[in-house]
Amino acid sequence: MDYLPLPGTAVEDLDTPAIIVDLDIAESNIKAMADFAKENGVSMRPHMKTGKSPFWARKLMDAGAIGVCAAKVGEAEILADGGIPEILIPNQVVGTTKIRRLFGVAARSNLTVAVDSHENVAELSEAAQAFGIELGVILEVETGMNRAGVEPGKVATTLAKAVDVAKGLRFDGVMGYEGGTVWTEGFKKRKADTLQTIDRLLAAADDIEFNGLEVRIISAGGTGSYDITGKVDRVTELQCGSYLFMDAKYMEVFGDHPHPFSTALTVLGTVTSRPVRGRAIADPGMKAVATDVGKPKAVGIEGLMVKGMSEEHCVMTTEGEAENLKIGDKITLLPMHSDTTIAQHDYYYCVRNGVLETIVELTGRGRFM
Ligand SMILES: Cc1ncc(COP(=O)(O)O)c(C=O)c1O
Repeated sequence: MDYLPLPGTAVEDLDTPAIIVDLDIAESNIKAMADFAKENGVSMRPHMKTGKSPFWARKLMDAGAIGVCAAKVGEAEILADGGIPEILIPNQVVGTTKIRRLFGVAARSNLTVAVDSHENVAELSEAAQAFGIELGVILEVETGMNRAGVEPGKVATTLAKAVDVAKGLRFDGVMGYEGGTVWTEGFKKRKADTLQTIDRLLAAADDIEFNGLEVRIISAGGTGSYDITGKVDRVTELQCGSYLFMDAKYMEVFGDHPHPFSTALTVLGTVTSRPVRGRAIADPGMKAVATDVGKPKAVGIEGLMVKGMSEEHCVMTTEGEAENLKIGDKITLLPMHSDTTIAQHDYYYCVRNGVLETIVELTGRGRFM
């Protein structure tokens, strides 16, 4: 049985390494995006690859989101378990075992899944008939990221028609994630590149509609492109997810571009060793703070810098105020990328004004199947 601290515990008394979420900031990020969506007449379907918990999905839906995205069936399962009624998997689900689980989710929540092949359409249709459940299907369009998806035009339209006539499937529309442009620095270039990808998505939708099918959903958007994609009239919904905790990486990408988001998630660590002057070692290593997008930043103590990370150690240099750090003192690391950090933890420690308010179990941990 885990030892869990009680609400009311001061942040500095929490054991480490621990994910700390500043609730005021996360809630402000949620509201800011909801307000943006409302002002621009676009729906929100935030991606839970970031939050990985029904707790955050419910908060996002309470703020007006029409539903959420789940990266994998495992993520969709924990969201359905948490009573989330509307889920989109903007990803391909293939193979008998996963498709069986997919319909377990579809029995509880209104579920839509992305396809990009005729084989997948055939196996989904067969399962939909066997389970007697209608499944929503959208087409993933290749919009320039060179990941999954069909080419707009004839290839996309032929697949859309195949979905439309497949028994048990409902053709809902198209999606395309502009993952190749969300981290482009400089708003002008990011906007130009993003609009190019969205043009490909709209071209796919146009061709499908020209051939007589209704495209009810045009789904796209990442945090880096929210105020570009979200302003394109025909895009019906945004899939952005990272704004919930706002990545340090995105703060760098946005630079001086105005936006309403702030970083809400940090990792609390403890100084475990002070081997020599100028060096401090803390307990969050790469297993507690992801380094896929770069080393985390030490925040809140002047003169403290992260020099390197190994599996279980964070090696920091100390100057000025940081030279006073003692073994047992707490430090705060700001990860560059929240998603990959969150995916490694069991709990969120949610705080307000420096005091623990609630602990949220990360039921989405390990749900990458
Ligand atoms: C399909 C899809 N949609 C939406 C997103 C959300 O993007 P972001 O994390 O930039 O908000 C991602 C991110 O990986 C994605 O893969």
